[in-house]
Amino acid sequence: MAEVKEKRTRRQFLKNAAILGALLLGFAQIVRAIWLYLFPPKRPKTYHRYLVCKEGELKVGEAKEITLGKTPVYVIRLESGYRVYSGICTHLGCIVRWEKEKNRFFCPCHKGIYAPDGRVISGPPPRPLDQYKVEVDKDLVFMFVEDKQRSPWT
Ligand code: FES
Repeated sequence: MAEVKEKRTRRQFLKNAAILGALLLGFAQIVRAIWLYLFPPKRPKTYHRYLVCKEGELKVGEAKEITLGKTPVYVIRLESGYRVYSGICTHLGCIVRWEKEKNRFFCPCHKGIYAPDGRVISGPPPRPLDQYKVEVDKDLVFMFVEDKQRSPWT
């Protein structure tokens, strides 16, 4: 009789230990998920390089519109070199256009005007056009676009 009771006790102990282990494991997973949500791991920024034009394709003062996904982007050649600007107005997000004859970027929505170097000349835009990093490599002009960060759950 004592042996049966001891077996039951041992069985009960093992069952309780398994339940406790499972609960602790589940709790640890929840704590880990909350921790990663509150303190996401810092990852170095990574960039994707896109070819935007060939060296010499644009003369000084010329710009070329390209589309990156659905985003218009302008490559412009200035005295100081190539620049790449977003074609999205910094006011309310309308599409700007390059006006070669007036040497400016113009946003028709609220008449925002930007200089060829992206500075705001007049109108409501609060800041210059967003600029991308550019590199000239072996007679080719590239722009760099930051890769989107992924969450710890993807
Ligand atoms: Fe471009 Fe308002 S959206 S000036």
